[in-house]
Amino acid sequence: MKTRVKRKVMFRSLRLSLRFIVPLVIALAVLAYSVVPLVDRLYLRWSVRDMDIRSKLIASTLQEPLTDLLQQGNKYKINALFSRALRDERLFALGYCDEGGNMLYRTPTFPKDLTCASPGLSADQSGSLLKLPRLLVHVTANPMTYEGSPAGTLILVHDMSFFERRSTDTRKYIILLFVVLGVVTSLITVLVAHLSWRGWIDGVRAMLRGEGILRPFSHSTNTELEPLVGDLRNLLRTFDEERRLADDATISWTPDTLRGLLRKQLSGDQMLVVSNREPYIHMKGKLGIEVKRPASGMVTAVEPVMRACSGTWIAHGGGTADREVVDRHDRVSIPPGHAYYTLRRIWLTKEEEAGYYYGFANEGLWPLCHIAHVRPIFRTNDWERYVAVNQRFADAVVEEANSDDPVILVQDYHFALLPAMIRGLLPRATLITFWHIPWPNPESFGICPWREELLQGMLGSTILGFHTRFHCKNFLETVDRYLETRIEHESSTISHGSMLTLVESYPISIQWPPPLQETQPPVEECRAWVKQALQLDPDHLIGLGVDRLDYTKGIFERLQAIEHMLDLHPEMIGRFTFIQIAAPSRSVLEDYQALDTRVRSLAMRINERFSRGSRQPVCLKVEHHEPEAINRYYRAADVCMVTSLHDGMNLVAKEYVASRDDERGVLVLSQFTGAAHELHEALIVNPYHIEQTADALFQALTMPDFEQRERMLSMRAIVSDFNVYRWAGRMLIDAARIRQREKLAVRIGRPL
Ligand code: G6P
Repeated sequence: MKTRVKRKVMFRSLRLSLRFIVPLVIALAVLAYSVVPLVDRLYLRWSVRDMDIRSKLIASTLQEPLTDLLQQGNKYKINALFSRALRDERLFALGYCDEGGNMLYRTPTFPKDLTCASPGLSADQSGSLLKLPRLLVHVTANPMTYEGSPAGTLILVHDMSFFERRSTDTRKYIILLFVVLGVVTSLITVLVAHLSWRGWIDGVRAMLRGEGILRPFSHSTNTELEPLVGDLRNLLRTFDEERRLADDATISWTPDTLRGLLRKQLSGDQMLVVSNREPYIHMKGKLGIEVKRPASGMVTAVEPVMRACSGTWIAHGGGTADREVVDRHDRVSIPPGHAYYTLRRIWLTKEEEAGYYYGFANEGLWPLCHIAHVRPIFRTNDWERYVAVNQRFADAVVEEANSDDPVILVQDYHFALLPAMIRGLLPRATLITFWHIPWPNPESFGICPWREELLQGMLGSTILGFHTRFHCKNFLETVDRYLETRIEHESSTISHGSMLTLVESYPISIQWPPPLQETQPPVEECRAWVKQALQLDPDHLIGLGVDRLDYTKGIFERLQAIEHMLDLHPEMIGRFTFIQIAAPSRSVLEDYQALDTRVRSLAMRINERFSRGSRQPVCLKVEHHEPEAINRYYRAADVCMVTSLHDGMNLVAKEYVASRDDERGVLVLSQFTGAAHELHEALIVNPYHIEQTADALFQALTMPDFEQRERMLSMRAIVSDFNVYRWAGRMLIDAARIRQREKLAVRIGRPL
């Protein structure tokens, strides 16, 4: 067994070595192959140059005796002079040409083919090479002078065989050099590769033991692997998330589950909710006091949780008859006629509302967090009111708390400062803050003049919840950019002072089974009701939009898409009507008033262009609707369009799906909503792309029944599994875990 393992290790290390050696050897061989002829050529050029110099030297040495002997015509002495000169081992032959080009003298070794007229023997040329049958020679023609006049040419022929011998030797040495180089570099490379490989393996092992992730790298660990730490952390988070989802999936989430959780895990601790918008608004009406439920995704989600858990909900009392129904502590039991929980109302002056709600929250933070291209406005006055109102709510929380460690659910961007303020007053409280809108990237958030204060305020929370992982990531990066804290990415926590905040994603949802499931009229009845009200034919197609009249909701773009669809498909004119329910919202603000005007005039233009008799293509209802009425519209609609330009989650999308127990109807959903991360079977669109949205609308209107059914079934399964009890339950489970840790830490007298 051991030998097998050893052999395996050896084989792996051989493979690793070969991976480095083979390319190295190939590269060296190619290099050697191209270097040898290069060196040959260079060496030949140097040798020829040497021979040229040598020839000139010999010629000038022979010049005087030779010209003297030529004058004397002493043939014998000239031949003797030539023979003496030939004693030089490199000089192979000599010859003399007279001015007429006749070879008068030559040594017996002089090549036969070489004459005075041979090409290359011009006097002004440097030496040239000549290949004889068994010899390579270097030939130069050296002009002679006698007393200043030309006196023929001396031809010197040098033996170049030494060059061929040396060239063979050089080639041998070069190849040998490359072989040695190859062996040495291979050995060094293999050694370095093995050491690095072992270092990396050790580093990865250290990371798997938690170094760099749960605690810093130890000194001995190879920190070159640090870039991988982030990837590994993300992987671990995904695994953890999946494990938690799998655990949750075994639980069927109902109000009872949530109650049980609160009882068991949080020992029945008091639950307090703080939000700006109240869940029930008392208004003076013609028939006396009327109770209204606001158009607010936050209220839609939190209200069923409060019904299940009881406790106290603290909110701004903004209704015209709100003061008339509260007791002397400003409390009223709700829902009317049931008294499941208590609503504690906080009264705000006109100035407080203008600065804190309209100003800082809705002209500042709202556009800051949504990418809808509306500029945020920050005023010092608004900020001061925001701080003061947060403090008023913090004081109210303390008044309502009946222990020093209640569970407090802080809702939304109206109360960024509240967690730290409550923490100061009730240090042992469990604070769960949920941010219902998107969180922007650090650059965008950074334009807020009070960014540090807001972040510090939020970090008073035990848990800080966002709809998506992406918003959590943006928040962690924002804190990293602007505050001095320690961020643990693996556990998604932020340590600041002695506080620890868990930043986690909890995708919000709606009540399931839907609250009106038992009492709602059948789909056919809802259709007939809508069509009768609008005087439409029984087979008329209905589209629906349900929103607050807010620039983030993409209502204007939606109407543009409807107009484009009618332009492209005239067969739909007179056959299709789009009902837009737009709850008036924040209408004292200029941006909202401008939107109102734009939407109304576009709706009018579309109606002018495409109305057929009493059948209008757009029916714009800018008024408040109660949930029962909205539910009837949902059930009557063939298509529901949710085309927000940016939205934390958007619960209209989920409500539409929940209302369709007939498993019909199509959802057109903006890719920029949190809901698009869950409802994949909707027709997902980019609301800025008018043509694409128009196409999706037409596709929805002409979608076969079976496809509608398949898509709707799958979306209903998601919404029912991931209902709002699960949303709240997951936060409470996390809170209970943290509370237990904190209690244990207090008992053992040190942090865990
Ligand atoms: C969004 C916010 C809620 C708010 C709702 C209605 O959904 O997240 O907190 O209640 O809009 O806005 P309003 O200003 O009318 O409360």
